[in-house]
Amino acid sequence: MKKYLVVIALIGLFIGCSVSKEELGRQVVDLKKGWKFTKGEVENGETVQLDDSQWETVNVPHDWAIYGPFDSKNDAQSKKVVADGEKNKKLRLGRTAGLPYMGIGWYRKSFELAENNADKKLNVEFDGAMSHAKVYVNGNFVGEWPYGYTSFSFDISDFVKVGKNVLAVRLQNKPQSSRWYPGAGLYRNVRLLTTNKAHVKHWGTNITTPQVSEKMAEVKIKTTLIGSDKCTLLTEIYNSSNLLIAKKESEPIVGNELELEQSLPVENPQLWSIESPVIYTVLSKVIREGEILDVYESSFGIRSFTFTSDDGLHLNGKRLQVQGVCMHHDLGPLGAAVNISALHRQLVILKGMGCNAIRTSHNSPTPELLSMCDTMGFLVMDEAFDEWKKGKNKNGYTHLWDDWAEKDLMALIHRDRNHPSVFMWSVGNEILEQFTDDGWKRAKFIVDIAHREDNTRPVTIGMNREAPAENNFAVQFDLKGWNYHTHLYPWLKEEHPDWCFIASETQSTVSSRGYFDLDAVPRKHYERENLQCSDYGLDYCNWSNTPDVGFAMLDDNPHVAGEFVWTGFDYLGEPSPYNLQWPTKNSYFGIVDLCGFPKSIYYLYKARWTKENVLHILPHWNWDQSQVKTVPVHVFTNFNSAELFVNGKSYGVRTKNPKEVYERYRLVWKDVNYEPGEVKLVAFDENGKPAMENSIKTASEPYALQLVSQYSKIKADGESLSFVEVNVVDKEGNFCPTANLPIQFSVEGAGTFHVAGNGNSTDITPFQSHVRNCFNGKCLVMLQSSEKAGTISLTATADQLKSAKLEVVTN
Ligand code: GAL
Repeated sequence: MKKYLVVIALIGLFIGCSVSKEELGRQVVDLKKGWKFTKGEVENGETVQLDDSQWETVNVPHDWAIYGPFDSKNDAQSKKVVADGEKNKKLRLGRTAGLPYMGIGWYRKSFELAENNADKKLNVEFDGAMSHAKVYVNGNFVGEWPYGYTSFSFDISDFVKVGKNVLAVRLQNKPQSSRWYPGAGLYRNVRLLTTNKAHVKHWGTNITTPQVSEKMAEVKIKTTLIGSDKCTLLTEIYNSSNLLIAKKESEPIVGNELELEQSLPVENPQLWSIESPVIYTVLSKVIREGEILDVYESSFGIRSFTFTSDDGLHLNGKRLQVQGVCMHHDLGPLGAAVNISALHRQLVILKGMGCNAIRTSHNSPTPELLSMCDTMGFLVMDEAFDEWKKGKNKNGYTHLWDDWAEKDLMALIHRDRNHPSVFMWSVGNEILEQFTDDGWKRAKFIVDIAHREDNTRPVTIGMNREAPAENNFAVQFDLKGWNYHTHLYPWLKEEHPDWCFIASETQSTVSSRGYFDLDAVPRKHYERENLQCSDYGLDYCNWSNTPDVGFAMLDDNPHVAGEFVWTGFDYLGEPSPYNLQWPTKNSYFGIVDLCGFPKSIYYLYKARWTKENVLHILPHWNWDQSQVKTVPVHVFTNFNSAELFVNGKSYGVRTKNPKEVYERYRLVWKDVNYEPGEVKLVAFDENGKPAMENSIKTASEPYALQLVSQYSKIKADGESLSFVEVNVVDKEGNFCPTANLPIQFSVEGAGTFHVAGNGNSTDITPFQSHVRNCFNGKCLVMLQSSEKAGTISLTATADQLKSAKLEVVTN
């Protein structure tokens, strides 16, 4: 934002670092490039004189483990998972993806201070570091933060000097510390912040809107100031067109660290909503004797919401069904290393099926995700923990709870409290304390902290089974989240008519994109030799259910505010139901696969969650006629009825039947004679008139490769990614849904081949390989821009197929 013209004196303070943002009185330098990294313990790794010239040079965000190799021996965990009905411990492979995230890693970064900084304050900020970070500056220990998901910062003013400085970070990941792939290293952004001594504290604004109406909103801003004696605080609010709409200046301040509260009115506020996510900006200016010493920028939204016990969530006075998904933090082939383009693409794909909410399961997300949710219109269930003191993992959070739970939760709330998208704090997921008699005490302890830090949002948790409703546990929470156990909802309502509910985790249906088991019946924990799950959306786990059963539960219990499906995207690790097999490196739970390709159920959700006409036919129509005589055809649609034709022959009309769960949300033709050709669907409107048609065709032999990029122009910033979908097609351009063949990639020009993937959970080819098998006709390549504008050109070749070329412009 350029709301002020004065150029500050701090320019050029750092040499060799790119200045990413300048505001009056403060300078932010992203520490992205030129880090030195090595794996393993290094004696005196923090010292200035250490020679790190032989270490690898890396850019941050960096995930040291995503380069693999995948190996079943990496973090094989002997565990008994009670929810899986296991009576004894079993050796679970691939639980953390078989990637080498364990061990110690050292990062070092030199930076120069070009001018005397005696009058300045210098902070180093980490958006998260995996894990057990110990931070040193010029050989001095400056602080530590063990939980790898929490953002933290340290004041390093006393440790820096003019000239060369060395920032060193030691990280350590213990095996058996996670139930999914956690990532490893400086996987989120790191920056240096310089301010004057008088400044707004880190995360130092707390903006709430206690009164909201269409005519007027009261905006309450609490600002924590440091070194502020004799300063005034000028607070300005700007609307989304950057116009100053309200301001207030305090009296001169007495004291050096204090919180000031100001209340500003906003007339005719534009309310934040899913459809219209309007963002306002606050500039907090610290002024002494006419000189502006600091300008701190925060953004917020004006909205009101309430959870009701009988009618779910109301946002700005209107009922809103939460159509959410749970998301782990990894970005598939990129691992845990944060990348803006990849995060954005995930949200675009999710929005496309009508998703309006994200649960950051089961930990603090990267801050960029929340900013995107603010501006793209997603609600967020901001979650802190997967375990408390009663451990789920041998080396998990259980060891941190006593000393860190309060600090971690405070960090989450202080960092995230101004985001309009955040509409509840979740303090846990399937916490084992819920089953103990005095677990409620720990619940109360953590809920009290959340209430103390922010009383504008409900505190929730993902519970499971009956016990927490019967002991004193569930009572502690403002909003009761239940995972799965759809049959409990009517009972819960009956027993506790005044409780407000959200289905904090639903479905856990398992599927593999494009693989269809023609025995299309609901199957609980079903294992196949090919280690795949069927794409009919009917395979589920011991504790879980199909979407159809989950939808029925919500439709029959409209008091529940909505759901968070497990999961939006596939993620690395937890390959249920193939936890004991190898190779299986990633989950099957996603509605979308690991590479961002929708599985069939994407359209089941889209039909339910959007008003767009959906008429999706499954399976594909490329079967071996000598083996396959009949095929079950399922149609995911929001039309009530449709007629099916194969090569012109009608197989009759099907109409949704609210009394049969597997006919309530999908149209099913059980035995359609298989003959190659065309399957056509004609859907009917309420008056029985044809309203929409769709068809699929049998493809002939694979003939060519086809490259499609949704991001054909990207920034020449050395970070942005273009995502290129690679399809195998026949001579007429029909997609070949059963093609599984190797494809080679080469890249020239203003960027690089970054990674590739195909969504196949069993493929353990490193993501960085330039050769990739397509999986059921598709794979994905990610190209990364360099800092020089130009054209990136990608060529894809495969034996006996026509090759393809695609250009991406960078500027
Ligand atoms: C839930 C759990 C999730 C994930 C999921 C898989 O019980 O909360 O983290 O493990 O099961 O179905």
